[in-house]
Amino acid sequence: MEVSERFLQTALDGIRDCINIVDKDFKIIFMNEAASQRAGKKRHLLLGNKCYTELWKESAPCENCVTGKVFETGKPQQTITWETGIDGKKLCIEKFSFPIADKESKVEYVVEIFRDITERKLLEDEQEQQRLELGKRIRELRHAYEELKSLQNQLLQAEKMASIGLLASSLAHELDTPLATISGYCELLSEDIHNEKLPERIKTISDQVAKCQKTIRNLLDFSRKSNCERKLCNIQHLISNTLSLVEHRLIIHKIKLHKTFDDLVPPLLADGNQIQQVILNLINNAVDALPQGGDIFIETRMNKEMKSIEVVFEDNGIGISREDQKRVFTPFFTTKEPGKGTGLGLSICNNIISTHNGKIALESRAGSGAKFVISLPL
Ligand SMILES: Nc1ncnc2c1ncn2[C@@H]1O[C@H](COP(=O)(O)OP(=O)(O)OP(=O)(O)O)[C@@H](O)[C@H]1O
Ligand SMILES: [Mg+2]
Repeated sequence: MEVSERFLQTALDGIRDCINIVDKDFKIIFMNEAASQRAGKKRHLLLGNKCYTELWKESAPCENCVTGKVFETGKPQQTITWETGIDGKKLCIEKFSFPIADKESKVEYVVEIFRDITERKLLEDEQEQQRLELGKRIRELRHAYEELKSLQNQLLQAEKMASIGLLASSLAHELDTPLATISGYCELLSEDIHNEKLPERIKTISDQVAKCQKTIRNLLDFSRKSNCERKLCNIQHLISNTLSLVEHRLIIHKIKLHKTFDDLVPPLLADGNQIQQVILNLINNAVDALPQGGDIFIETRMNKEMKSIEVVFEDNGIGISREDQKRVFTPFFTTKEPGKGTGLGLSICNNIISTHNGKIALESRAGSGAKFVISLPL
């Protein structure tokens, strides 16, 4: 072997890719160490033999052989194919063949370089599979989210209807008195139509009618299905409107209401209907906690530091045990008799306040009872 040939052989032997030079009859003229290792024989036993027999265990030129194409076209060729290795294992082989031409530019030999890219290919395939899987998961998640959102809406509406049921009885009381007054005064009116007290009585009638209308309008506003419409609302008005729906329950249960409203609290961008639902549930819970009567305290205040509005609901009722304090916001947690509470009230409140980027917390109260603090960002 000449020096230059020895250098070349040593250099090519150092390359991990298989390098193989064949003539027109696919006879191996040269091969590096990697290629002979692949064939599983010493180099001197391979030279002069057919490449398809030694490297690919075929009896004729391989079906997808690019070397044949190089002889035909004189142009370099490249492919990636799955092959069966000498140990029977499937291998992904990247092949690159290019010509060595004679003086008349006719292809005399072809250099074949091939490399095992099975691992890379498997990794790519796996990544592709993972990508597809991820896409599928994301689609499923999105679908589940939509479903959840629609369920949440349904739940909100269901909870609202449940509180309306509760309201209906107090509404009947609420409307009973003004309507009785109206009919009484109508009777009086028809008896002595010339009486000078007439204007005063007519005013009483219209006042009472206005009261009925206000109560009914509040109830209608509240029961209407809403799809989270945010408007600037005055929190104090929302509380007062809600209170007008439960006033009668408070009287029946001998509960005194104490309001401390900070008139400087600015308007809030919120879904008034949903906020009313929160207020209503907190008041109903407080009423339920005061079977022997007592006090409910409602306070509105600014938290300048947090740039938020705080609404505090306190009562001096039966209170919540340390154990239950951890669970009150959990859906379906209730300590009320079957049929009395669904246990959804506070979890829905929590949900509504969260969608308003606010917080609702149960805080400890000096003395007996419970204290809920809502904070809503401005
Ligand atoms: N002010 C309160 N005082 C004492 N316990 C309370 C108070 N507010 C809530 N709780 C406790 O938290 C539980 C959960 O309240 P939540 O409003 O979620 O459901 P509920 O009132 O039981 O049922 P629903 O609101 O569906 O009628 C109540 O059952 C009660 O034990
Ligand atoms: Mg409740």
